Amino acid sequence: MLRRKPLVSVDDAQRRARRRLPRGVYDFVIGGSEARLTLDHNLNGFADITFRPRYAVAHERRNLATTVLGCDLSMPVVLAPAGQLRPVFHDAERAAARAARAAGIAVGVSTFASTAIEEIMPAAGAAPVWYQLYFSGGRAVAEAAVDRARNVGCKALLVTIDSPRTGYRESAYLGNGLPHKVGLSTALRFAPEVLPHPVWLARYLRGGIALRVPNIRWPDGRELTIEEASLERQTPPVTWDDFRWIKQHFGGPVVAKGVLTAEDARRAVDAGADGIVVSNHGGYMLDSAPSTIRVLPEVLEAVGGQVEVLVDGGIRRGADVVKALALGARAVMIGRAYVWALAAAGEQGAHEMLALFRSGIERTMTLIGCGDVASLDRSYIDLPPGRLGRLDGSRPRAPR
Ligand SMILES: Cc1cc2nc3c(=O)[nH]c(=O)nc-3n(C[C@H](O)[C@H](O)[C@H](O)COP(=O)(O)O)c2cc1C
Repeated sequence: MLRRKPLVSVDDAQRRARRRLPRGVYDFVIGGSEARLTLDHNLNGFADITFRPRYAVAHERRNLATTVLGCDLSMPVVLAPAGQLRPVFHDAERAAARAARAAGIAVGVSTFASTAIEEIMPAAGAAPVWYQLYFSGGRAVAEAAVDRARNVGCKALLVTIDSPRTGYRESAYLGNGLPHKVGLSTALRFAPEVLPHPVWLARYLRGGIALRVPNIRWPDGRELTIEEASLERQTPPVTWDDFRWIKQHFGGPVVAKGVLTAEDARRAVDAGADGIVVSNHGGYMLDSAPSTIRVLPEVLEAVGGQVEVLVDGGIRRGADVVKALALGARAVMIGRAYVWALAAAGEQGAHEMLALFRSGIERTMTLIGCGDVASLDRSYIDLPPGRLGRLDGSRPRAPR
């Protein structure tokens, strides 16, 4: 039997995922709304930062361990919450949780996860699980979801604020989207796309045909359908006023995910948030939102150390993690990096991807002469003159 070569990078995982997944599923992960400008900005923002290495220093070993929101992590990387991963890999959410556990990091679980939180927790074991909250179905549904997250032992709540409605993903409307309901007509429509991927299809069917969102229920106990969950993603949208009751209800750290301005950063602090994730949802929502690494300094300055600040969007290698930390982020979250790995090689792919991140961070730290992630600061990087990241249309585009 031909042995699979280990993954060598996120790009490699994405190339393999492209071969393995039906077109609609692949396009769902690429995401990117409208002209996909933000998708590219996120990547180009990192390309704009260069290192200022210190040579001729020796550190016996490099320390990557850190504490984020009271959770001990073996490296400053967290798996970002990602909804509806079952079409990507049949056991995706549990596989991600197991990979996080093996790596000693935290894992985010989306409101839209295709696996119930109670089934993910045992897979996560000692890995801290951070539940991501949408208001799909309104406050009563959200309250019940928060109760559930607290009761099963989630260590933090990520409240996503950047999706008052879903971004316009054009390829989905051109026919490359996941169906909300799977019936005979959808089966026939998707057959030409799906039948050339028999291994994928067999795995997918193990979990039944229908796509589900088992973490959100109406007050009468009925699960929301995917259609209901998507249509009602944020109806009414979450507001800063909601942070008070969410915090009281959850009782643990509550984080605003999707902050992109100093104004929102200050409002998050005023609303009692314990942390901020600088995020543009990986370019899935508002197109022409700025690259996250570009606005990170503005957000850090606005909060002045009052809360922990994380960043996600476009992080594809260890060097990107080091750049984000040198700018002042406490840790990063990665989304597509591990999702492509799951698509390319299942759970083993996720383990390999986290190993790549760890070795990438270690290697970069050795090459810049820094022995501890806690010692990373702006003296290790050079920002482009003027504002960070002057992004224009002549830049490279993310692989599609
Ligand atoms: C397939 C997929 C599904 C996602 N679903 C959610 C979600 O349900 N809730 C959420 O807050 N963010 C979601 N995200 C966004 C991630 O949490 C994260 O912000 C983003 O992926 C970071 O950008 P990156 O993919 O470039 O690393 C999703 C991302 C992906 C790739």
